Amino acid sequence: MAASPFAAVPLTPAGHFRVNAHAATFHLLAHLQELAAAGALDLDETFARHPFLTGYLDGMCPYLPKDLHWAQGPAWWAENLRAWERAATVHLPLAALDATGLGLRERHALVLAGLVEEDSRFGSVFAEIQRPIEPRRPTLQTLAAILGDDVDPWSVHAALTSRGLVETVIGGGPRSEDVVTVPAELWAVLRGTPQEQPLPWGEVLDRDELDGAEDLLVPDGLRHQVDALVSRLGASGGRGAPRAVLVRGAHGSGRRRVLGALARGLGRGALFVDADHLDDARWARLGALCTALGALPVVRYALLPGQAVAVPAVPGLVGVLGLAVGSEGGLTGRVAEAAIRLDVPRPGPRERRAHWLAHLPRVREDDLDGVVDRHLLPGGQIRRAARRAREIADLDGRGDVVAGDVGRACAELGRERLDVLAQRLDPPGGTTRLVCDEASELQLLALELRCRHRERVLGTVGPGFGGTTGTGVRALLTGPSGTGKTLACRLLAAQLGMDLYRVDLAAVIDKYVGETEKNLHRILSAAEELDVVLLVDEGDSLLGNRTEVRSANDRFANLETNYLLQRLETYQGIVLVTTNAAEGIDPAFQRRMDVVLTLVEPGPMQRWELWQLHLPADHRVSPGHLDEVAARAEMTGGQIRNAAMQATFLALDDGHVVDDRLLDLAVAVEYGKAGAVSPFQRTLGEQRRRRSEAFLEALP
Ligand SMILES: Nc1ncnc2c1ncn2[C@@H]1O[C@H](COP(=O)(O)OP(=O)(O)OP(=O)(O)O)[C@@H](O)[C@H]1O
Ligand SMILES: [Mg+2]
Repeated sequence: MAASPFAAVPLTPAGHFRVNAHAATFHLLAHLQELAAAGALDLDETFARHPFLTGYLDGMCPYLPKDLHWAQGPAWWAENLRAWERAATVHLPLAALDATGLGLRERHALVLAGLVEEDSRFGSVFAEIQRPIEPRRPTLQTLAAILGDDVDPWSVHAALTSRGLVETVIGGGPRSEDVVTVPAELWAVLRGTPQEQPLPWGEVLDRDELDGAEDLLVPDGLRHQVDALVSRLGASGGRGAPRAVLVRGAHGSGRRRVLGALARGLGRGALFVDADHLDDARWARLGALCTALGALPVVRYALLPGQAVAVPAVPGLVGVLGLAVGSEGGLTGRVAEAAIRLDVPRPGPRERRAHWLAHLPRVREDDLDGVVDRHLLPGGQIRRAARRAREIADLDGRGDVVAGDVGRACAELGRERLDVLAQRLDPPGGTTRLVCDEASELQLLALELRCRHRERVLGTVGPGFGGTTGTGVRALLTGPSGTGKTLACRLLAAQLGMDLYRVDLAAVIDKYVGETEKNLHRILSAAEELDVVLLVDEGDSLLGNRTEVRSANDRFANLETNYLLQRLETYQGIVLVTTNAAEGIDPAFQRRMDVVLTLVEPGPMQRWELWQLHLPADHRVSPGHLDEVAARAEMTGGQIRNAAMQATFLALDDGHVVDDRLLDLAVAVEYGKAGAVSPFQRTLGEQRRRRSEAFLEALP
């Protein structure tokens, strides 16, 4: 076999593009030649006016046979280009478009349309041959004429636009005088110069940068599914094959890695993009871009519950479209509906251990056990948390990451994601405890155990549970104000060693329709992913009885309640709701709660304990008096806390310690707040007198 005329050109994307640019230019020159033959222009003069054309001609001379006639050119180029391309060992963007059914002539048209970007001097040539309208870009008609007498402008146009390869600039004249341009992003890929990141709105990874199926830290079943899909899609060579693969899973669960592994298995790179970044124009060229890049497009959607979004067709795409969606919402349209579906489950302890080990190879075994058990994070979050934990250890000058670093790292990640809509509550101090009756204590213990073993229980429950259990724990704490509901939640989170976030209802509830759900959605998803305890404190406003719809406002309030009802069912984290108006809570909520727990007002014994807990250590309240106050002043924990604080202030002011008298005063203040009279009423008289005496003494 004779050597290719292009043998001296490296068969790389850039080299291949250069030869194609020459081929397209040859067709343009041949067209000028024809025009000259028809007497429409003088070839010598044209070359004299555009001397750069001679340069191009000289550039292609080394390949062209000496005796090649202009009219034989197209056939010669077709034969030799094709033969040369067949020897390619690398991905050639322009040649890759052939798989979309694009013919060589249309490829020349595409390159001709883009040549102006390459060398603006071509603009002057186009202007000249397109008189009298003189656009500096080729019109459809010109492109067709360059490709041959028999070429229909509309078929060229259809071939290019239907694959998203060109955009038509409508000029207002006859349609065949519209000019076409190649989108800049696509042109940059086609010309084959390596670029770090070719697209500002998506991330392109080469095949080598993607994980293979064997590297995925997912259950074996899913890995096998990916392998099977690779064989199926690889073997069917496109015909009759599914056009999309839809992967469902939580944010951070590794959906995109799974699709990346599929791409790698198919010998491709991947283009990752968020659906929010794709407008109509980008959707239109997504397929062509990915085909040219040799990448599998992976579009990630963030949908709300009940939201349905249509996936547009992706013209110009060879192979499958990857779709990544969360556990909510759905995709519609022909492409999505025919998609093959995969589910990425939340990682179990085995996968989590593998994730942590992959990112924290030197963590101690018992630290690792604790970390795996304590943070039920998806893979993506583990990666992020591990990176942060390594930084924390580095900053402390330690080489090894310990469990505490991971805890801090998770807390930081939580703060970053949740801070706008929720507020982190610090764990209560070491000696703080909840004073309550035995029944409540038992209930609280049951709740704690439920939270602690929420994952382990999955494999243990009886068959009657079917597949209905998850790792979610939903608890409702009711009881009068000041009985310690919020405190109980803080203690619970501390005992579990988890971070606690209180939903900022003022920030979440929005007067605009749909916004509250969106905010709730964001917060619940983030809390679920980061595995923090979520506290909906005084949640009455969200969980109120669904009202009869009398006004539009009622309907929206109901929508929010409905949303929360629906979302809580699938919630995989721990959520604690408190209210002091249990009767106001929608019964549907009560039913969905795993634990409903009531804190009652404390009795005399508990009040005594509460006083002990809140009075300063050096108080001098006589034991008999404290017994009496505890017995007779029917206060809640919250009120006792306030009174103890008040007494401490009074003592500070007085230069004394808390004694019977100051305690009585403080109790009176607390009763006064509620508009009641304390059984231990004393006057302020003595306090005032002493104060003015001290003042007078201080005078010079
Ligand atoms: N049972 C209790 N044991 C210990 N301390 C308590 C108890 N109840 C209340 N306290 C004290 O009162 C403070 C306030 O209680 P907390 O905020 O938990 O009450 P709450 O039930 O959430 O009230 P509200 O319904 O008004 O929000 C606590 O920080 C704690 O100091
Ligand atoms: Mg509270």
